[in-house]
Amino acid sequence: MAKLKVGILISGRGSNMAALIRAAQAADYPAEVACVVSNQAGAPGLKVAADAGIATAVVSHRGHADRETFDRALSAELERHGVELVVLAGFMRIFSPWFPVRWADRVINVHPSLLPCFKGLHVQQQALDAGVRLSGCTVHFVIPDLDAGPIIAQAAVPVLAGDTEETLSARILRQEHRLYPLVVRWFAEGRIAVAEGRVTVRDIPPGATLLFSPET
Ligand code: GAR
Repeated sequence: MAKLKVGILISGRGSNMAALIRAAQAADYPAEVACVVSNQAGAPGLKVAADAGIATAVVSHRGHADRETFDRALSAELERHGVELVVLAGFMRIFSPWFPVRWADRVINVHPSLLPCFKGLHVQQQALDAGVRLSGCTVHFVIPDLDAGPIIAQAAVPVLAGDTEETLSARILRQEHRLYPLVVRWFAEGRIAVAEGRVTVRDIPPGATLLFSPET
């Protein structure tokens, strides 16, 4: 069967991108990375993707009159590579409403908190400041509202005494790297359905959309 063509959008390091590229190297993985596109020419993830033999492109947000013009240019680049699913991996631009409508139910994001708690930037610090005992990451469909949209899966980790933004971020990131390739696999296998803002994932073991890692 043809593999699902995934386009990954990054702005920086691209460790989630790298986890997806690694997963997609397995012969039985049902998706392939068709391209990696960054809005930042200096994003370190671009080199990682190019070294893995993946087509890369830069679509800078600078030089576009407004957000929608940028979004349309980005979209054209994804279309050029035949992308069927857009995966945001540390893509730090806010879309105009046009993009999530164009890619409705075909654009997903990973966010380093258990949404709907802690949106925006420095969410791991927000979790520390709030004194929560659990945090984690969320993979969700992207809608015009920031850090919102139907939740597909989450992974939870403990928040430990003595945690800093760095230690908590690293613990969450390890779970992002597990969860995101899993969700892309489910999407490619046609298991994910969304209706009225709620997601169902067919034929996976009960509880598999929630990972819990008590690791310290
Ligand atoms: C990840 O922790 C991701 O969840 C977060 O940025 C980091 C990117 O790391 N994304 C957001 O905060 C989006 N709201 P990476 O470039 O190494 O994948």
